[in-house]
Amino acid sequence: MRKKIVAGNWKMNTTVPEGVKLAQDVVAKLSEVPSDVNLVVAPSFVHIAQVGEVVNGTSVGLSAQNCADEVKGAYTGEVSAQMLSSIGVKYVILGHSERREYYGETNEKLVKKVNLALAEGLTPIFCVGEKLEERKADKHFDVVGEQVKEVLFTLSAEQMANVVIAYEPVWAIGTGETATKEQAQEIHAFIRATLAEKFGALAEEISILYGGSCKPSNAQELFAQKDIDGGLIGGAALKAEDFIAIAKSF
Ligand code: 13P
Repeated sequence: MRKKIVAGNWKMNTTVPEGVKLAQDVVAKLSEVPSDVNLVVAPSFVHIAQVGEVVNGTSVGLSAQNCADEVKGAYTGEVSAQMLSSIGVKYVILGHSERREYYGETNEKLVKKVNLALAEGLTPIFCVGEKLEERKADKHFDVVGEQVKEVLFTLSAEQMANVVIAYEPVWAIGTGETATKEQAQEIHAFIRATLAEKFGALAEEISILYGGSCKPSNAQELFAQKDIDGGLIGGAALKAEDFIAIAKSF
């Protein structure tokens, strides 16, 4: 059985007190969420310690939104995987399209980040997804296949078993436009088939999340798809009520 995961990517939102309150509100509603659904919150680095105090001892997993591509040392402004694991962080979002687009994150850098995260016992939530022009040119399978192969095919099966994938079509992020359930299922199945080329039956065990304008009104039909194992939620994760409603959508 694949893990069901609903992860909230808070991006660069909320002050620290607002973030602490949001985490408290999520924890307060936890009893409404089926016990086989794993909730994860990913606040900014600045929030992590304090949000960690709120979620520690609950079933909510703590995630970072990024980590450095070097172990330690003279890398001003960077945060290492080891720093994160030292304060109880369990997951790290890597390769989000916003990082690829605005901060020059390449597949080459992501190989380093994924390895460092795994070495620290963190679970990478590795993001893939095509841009609008790539979808329009019918290149989405090529683009996503390349992202999967260039990064995840460098891993051992033992490493791969600890990775979660998030498919986020860039054209659906923050736009209100969601992939249809058919479009999402088609590419999730493609990602799983691609993984199977290298990892065989292990591909069936890997959780693949959908992200991109996922909200309470569409989560249910998306999560009902065979190869969709949950969601990576942006905007709707900033309201505890919506985030919990999404987690109840399986
Ligand atoms: P939205 O849910 O705001 O579209 O963001 C999705 C996302 O990028 C999550 O990482």
